Amino acid sequence: MSEQKKFYIETYGCQMNFADSEVVNSILMKEGMNPVQEPESADIIFVNTCSIRENAESRVWNRLKEFRSLKKTRRDLTVGVLGCMAERIRDNILDREKLVDLVVGPDAYRDIPNLLSEVEDGRKAVNVLLSLEETYADISPVRTSGNGVSAFVSIMRGCDNMCSFCVVPFTRGRERSRPVQSILREIEELNEQGYKEVTLLGQNVNSYKHDSVDFTSLMEQVSRLNPEIRFRFSSPHPKDFPLPLLTLIAERTNLCNYIHIPAQSGSSSMLERMRRPYTREEYLELISLMKKTIPGVSLSTDIIAGFCDETEEEHQDTLSLMSIVEYDLAYMFAYSERERTLAHRKFEDNVPEEVKKRRLTEIITQQMSVQLENNKKEIGRRHVVLAEGTSKRSDQQLSGRTDTNKVVVFDKENYSKGDYVIVEITESTSATLIGKPLQAVTLSEFSHIAVYA
Ligand code: SAH
Ligand code: SF4
Ligand code: F3S
Repeated sequence: MSEQKKFYIETYGCQMNFADSEVVNSILMKEGMNPVQEPESADIIFVNTCSIRENAESRVWNRLKEFRSLKKTRRDLTVGVLGCMAERIRDNILDREKLVDLVVGPDAYRDIPNLLSEVEDGRKAVNVLLSLEETYADISPVRTSGNGVSAFVSIMRGCDNMCSFCVVPFTRGRERSRPVQSILREIEELNEQGYKEVTLLGQNVNSYKHDSVDFTSLMEQVSRLNPEIRFRFSSPHPKDFPLPLLTLIAERTNLCNYIHIPAQSGSSSMLERMRRPYTREEYLELISLMKKTIPGVSLSTDIIAGFCDETEEEHQDTLSLMSIVEYDLAYMFAYSERERTLAHRKFEDNVPEEVKKRRLTEIITQQMSVQLENNKKEIGRRHVVLAEGTSKRSDQQLSGRTDTNKVVVFDKENYSKGDYVIVEITESTSATLIGKPLQAVTLSEFSHIAVYA
């Protein structure tokens, strides 16, 4: 019925959402529909949405308004809302934004073809059922955007942690892990397509468990698939980071020396209110173990400023934790209250907006200067950079990432996208490194070449 229809997906939010859009691609293409890259030429527009903060949702409402004017000229245009907002707001989306025809939560994507037929019959269609089992394990995601070099593979869905500020457990449901074989098969397919870097995704990858395979043994198995594909993962939780994984990362050249390890706050009393079951001291102990076990490891984090009852002292604790760790990258947010969370039910969102903003600015300013200093130290070092494509600055330059996840721009010369290139860093800013390419290498031979000058 829907054959030959053209669809467009616009994605907001985290990497999991981007990975989900690739699953939706696959489901729709199996139905004979074709993906297009711009909304104007589509018969069906999907917006895959995020609810993590108020402003993530406002961006989507604004975008839907823009699609409303498109629909005025095209009466047969179908608009669908997918993802976390679909799950959170459900059929109320239909009341608030009349142009929306279908609403589909993160566990109901297999039902999209049926829902589209309902829409064709003139009804509005909603499926926001969450599942205890759905992992889309048998669906090979179709990667229509992206650079063809690095890909994301989701290894689990949902989250059981119930951090008091976070809406994710409500929008994505209970935690479940995808079977190992289906993960390995997907990586094999990426290998055949020439991908060189894979990031394994989950809301809390440490709790990956399928049959007797835990996260460390999963990483061990994926790293053996092909020594020329390098692997990252996001995000682990500090409460139960598996220590054997640190040794494994140190040993294997294709497990990247980069760990995103969200702290949220540097204050133990605050962490307790956030329901993050670790203290400042335990977190710092984990960090020093990471630095000791993996020399040169790069760390990044997530921080929330201005959560309920935050005192000036607790804020200072966050600043001091960040200056001790010296993160190479941080995602920093002002707290945004979300309905249904524990914080919404039990606490008061009582840090005034201007105080939140001021604290966030202090956090960002300090982080930028740490990054600037960290990146100054990179000058003179040599890194293996995976070239991801032409640089935005010039088509004579390539842009890629170090094993430690830093962006490096270097002259193209005879190198191409997908090459591992040894680059000597010559200049740096807080966000980017610039370097001189020395030679192309394979990851396996590189393990015999000295890295850090
Ligand atoms: N599962 C991931 C986090 C996913 S959400 C993890 O635990 O690492 C990404 C980040 O958004 C969180 O780490 C947190 O820093 C931030 N965040 C979540 N809820 C928020 C809220 N209500 N207000 C502001 N930031 C929030
Ligand atoms: Fe949210 Fe916490 Fe789960 Fe991360 S671990 S998704 S912050 S509840
Ligand atoms: Fe947003 Fe949902 Fe991801 S709320 S951050 S898209 S899990």
